Amino acid sequence: MKEETAETISWNESVSEANHSVVTEFVFLGLSNSQELQIFLFLFFFVFYVGIVFGNLLIVVTVASDSRLHSPMYFLLANLSLIDLSLSSATAPKMIADFFSTRKVISFKGCLAQIFLVHFFGGSELVILMAMAFDRYTAICKPLRYTTIMCRHTCAGIVAAAWGAGFLHSVSQLAFAVNLPFCGPNEVDSFYCDLPRVVRLACTDTYRLDVMVIANSGVLTVCSFVLLITSYTIILMTIQRRPSDRSSKALSTLTAHITVVLLFFGPCIFIYAWPFPVKSLDKFLAVFYSVVTPLLNPIIYTLRNKDMKRAMRRLGKWNVNSGIKS
Ligand SMILES: *[C@@H]1O[C@H](CO)[C@@H](O)[C@H](O)[C@H]1NC(C)=O
Repeated sequence: MKEETAETISWNESVSEANHSVVTEFVFLGLSNSQELQIFLFLFFFVFYVGIVFGNLLIVVTVASDSRLHSPMYFLLANLSLIDLSLSSATAPKMIADFFSTRKVISFKGCLAQIFLVHFFGGSELVILMAMAFDRYTAICKPLRYTTIMCRHTCAGIVAAAWGAGFLHSVSQLAFAVNLPFCGPNEVDSFYCDLPRVVRLACTDTYRLDVMVIANSGVLTVCSFVLLITSYTIILMTIQRRPSDRSSKALSTLTAHITVVLLFFGPCIFIYAWPFPVKSLDKFLAVFYSVVTPLLNPIIYTLRNKDMKRAMRRLGKWNVNSGIKS
């Protein structure tokens, strides 16, 4: 009789163990475990992140304050800056703070939050990049109908669609991660909770989950990348047939856009759609969309763009003047 109870209890225990994951936190292995390198990496990423915050906020403020920049292209650019800043803020501050802790931990909920935010802002960024390509396509290939197609309503619709799509994509990815059974392994070989890496720690058939991630994030990135490259190719071919004086400015805008697209999608495609994972390489590629592209956007768009530079100079003068008066 006694034995039976003991058996029931242990059976109950194993059932409850199977139902509830025992992992309450995850441990990041980080970018490197060399102590000397930590300080160097800390300084490096700290400077990058400060640049990201200032650069992107500068773009948002410049576009908002200058009525000459109130056009679809600059509205989309300002939205892109805001998303870049948010995307980077989901991972970079934690990574920077972690350089000084020997054990880099994140709670289970914190990990889910990171997965949610990265996919939310990543998905929105993808839609904004496509909208920027569509905007340039309309401006260059259908110039006469540009103002009717890219009206105020279209712009607001695109921005709303970007946030909506980011949210849907993120929820659909998180739905897998929330119910996964984690029963022991909790070391994430990265500096943030990257969905493919977290999924591989679950005590279940992870092959199927891998396929799910590839089917959602992977297909999404590859399809949008193909679409973007196709539209930029069409735009470039249209420009080729033009007299050169007008097309040189368009060409420099386009090169900036294409550079950003390549830098954003290259690492994404490798992480989510490349079927043969190369050990540890994906965490270095993740650095690209966490801190490199968000910093490059303001640099590329402002340094190559005369209107932006002029607007910033005016903004600076206005600040100095109002400072003297008050
Ligand atoms: C984003 O785009 C919308 C629609 O064009 C615009 O009204 C809004 O000001 C933009 N957001 C920022 C931060 O510039």
